[in-house]
Amino acid sequence: MNLGVLVSGRGSNLQAIIDAIEQGKLKCRLSVVLADREGIQAIQRCQRHRIPYKVLNRRDFESRQEFEERMVRALQEAGVELVVLAGFMRVLSPLFLKAFPERVINIHPSLTPAFQGLNAQRQAVHYGVRISGCTVHFVTEELDDGPVIAQACLPVLPEDTEETLSERLLTYEHRILPQVISWISQGRVKTEGRKVLVEGAQYGTLPFNPNLEDF
Ligand code: GAR
Repeated sequence: MNLGVLVSGRGSNLQAIIDAIEQGKLKCRLSVVLADREGIQAIQRCQRHRIPYKVLNRRDFESRQEFEERMVRALQEAGVELVVLAGFMRVLSPLFLKAFPERVINIHPSLTPAFQGLNAQRQAVHYGVRISGCTVHFVTEELDDGPVIAQACLPVLPEDTEETLSERLLTYEHRILPQVISWISQGRVKTEGRKVLVEGAQYGTLPFNPNLEDF
């Protein structure tokens, strides 16, 4: 399966995908990475691993529509079959989503629908929740919403700050995202309205539900 990954910053989730592919655990090809700004760490990761990438900056386009049309074209030209938002900090419009129906997924650092939007980890610490987590979900027009494919949870400690919680969450993010991509590539992810089922996966476990298999 050909992957297109959209990034806006550090790219540690992108790195987790690269590593899983290089280790032979994830049988996919990274066809193209689209970055929405220059000078980000995610681009350096592409260069280091010889992964094709393009920088498409919203400011270089007259409208959001033109920006998204250009992204769609770049992804289609690269033969992308699944679009992965890995720290991509923009909401996509129906124009984009219609080009890849049920083929756009996102990772978000909360148990959605809690703490959508920016700084989810800070929101969780400020709110005082005692359990947080991360979610991989299909993307809809709503911000960090959409049918949940898999979630992982972890305790929030009394001494946690946004930074410490983010750091612990990231180790889970880096496992759950390549796993979900792998399940999709195996054709095991089925959607029924808002409900998503991974065929053959083990449900009823924590911290990962469904339980991870290879990651
Ligand atoms: C990750 O924590 C990801 O879950 C989050 O941004 C970070 C990107 O890190 N995404 C969102 O908040 C989406 N709303 P990375 O660039 O190192 O992968």
